[in-house]
Amino acid sequence: MDSPDCSRYRVMSLMPAEPARITPIQPVNPVQPPPQPPSESQNNNTSDNSPITDRDYLDRVVGQNTRKYTMAKAEFSVPCMPSMLNEALRLLQEYCQLLGKPGTPEEQEKLRAFLSQKLQEGFNASPHSRLVLMCVPAKPQIGLLGGVSIQTKVVSESLSDKYTTWPKTRPDPLFGSEPDVKVMNVAASLGEPSQIRVLDVGAGPGRNSLPLARRGHPVHALELTPVFAEKLVQAAKPENLPVEVAVGNVLDPLVRMRPYYYQYVISTEVISHFRNTQELRLFFGKMCDALVTGGKLLVSLFLTEGGYQPTDLVRELGEVSFSSIFTPGELRQSIEGLPLNMVSVEATLEYEKQHHQGESWPPTPWYEGWCSGRNVFPIQKKPPMQLYWVLMERS
Ligand SMILES: C[S@@+](CC[C@H](N)C(=O)[O-])C[C@H]1O[C@@H](n2cnc3c(N)ncnc32)[C@H](O)[C@@H]1O
Repeated sequence: MDSPDCSRYRVMSLMPAEPARITPIQPVNPVQPPPQPPSESQNNNTSDNSPITDRDYLDRVVGQNTRKYTMAKAEFSVPCMPSMLNEALRLLQEYCQLLGKPGTPEEQEKLRAFLSQKLQEGFNASPHSRLVLMCVPAKPQIGLLGGVSIQTKVVSESLSDKYTTWPKTRPDPLFGSEPDVKVMNVAASLGEPSQIRVLDVGAGPGRNSLPLARRGHPVHALELTPVFAEKLVQAAKPENLPVEVAVGNVLDPLVRMRPYYYQYVISTEVISHFRNTQELRLFFGKMCDALVTGGKLLVSLFLTEGGYQPTDLVRELGEVSFSSIFTPGELRQSIEGLPLNMVSVEATLEYEKQHHQGESWPPTPWYEGWCSGRNVFPIQKKPPMQLYWVLMERS
């Protein structure tokens, strides 16, 4: 990188978080008309002024009147996945049904169009956005009789925001206490460490950067989330390790890597956050610039298996659950025409489990399930996707 000094890089979030705005939409339950009075013939009193004494009728009137004194509120929060539209609608419709009226077809159509727009807006901003649906009485003074008003807000959270909460809510080590075996094995095959300059993209708190630096590699680390970058800086200091850290988003055009400089580039558990094949291609293009001829690029990413073609729903949930999915064809297309040759593609979990030495397995409680695609497909049988080590060489 041009400058590994944290302070020179602007802190970039993948997407700026928008302040949440509440949008009310019209009541979906119109006020209910009172029950019809019984016909004259059923009424034994003829005078208009005489009281109605029909007990059934009066019970129905009073029964409905009790709804005036009943209040209901509900809040649903769904991930902003456009493919969640029917599910979000179903929740609202079932709730309105529970309260007595599902709303007219026109109201439901309006609601569908409105939710569709909000889900798409939120998803475009970040896969970690949520659509909050607040159902409140439309006219509180008449309780359930006044219908339901639905208010919505999109709460956007960038990836960096999301990771920033991790140290507060999860125990250390967040991504494991040991480096990836594959990362270290490739490093060991490349020659005298001091001659092999390493770039670690999305280094996190330094699970791989620190051990590589201890081996004697000069390491540059690029990291999106400032708290992780700071942890890495603080961990490297006492040992005086040759690690230089920069904060930035590798996909930001303003974040430039030092051209034709690195013998070894790694990016582990990072592509699982990319949003599409354009980002994948942009990443590979930038890595080609940063690598010297013959330099190695090691990444981990989720690939589909058995010819499986994920639907939009599956891809969207992949993004939400830190498991962005690419097909082998998409991976090939994303390096087409670039000076990169595929060296090997190996299932990450199998490789790490087989070659791992020492006590600390699994690296984290979530590691095995996540690697095997079960964040997306929580099934016993083998999901049609898993994490792979992909090793490439710059020609
Ligand atoms: C699951 S962690 C893995 C950290 C480390 N590579 C490891 O394997 O232990 C993913 C890291 O990638 C970083 N990251 C995600 N997208 C990034 C991007 N576009 N540019 C730079 N860093 C990114 C995140 O902030 C996070 O620290």
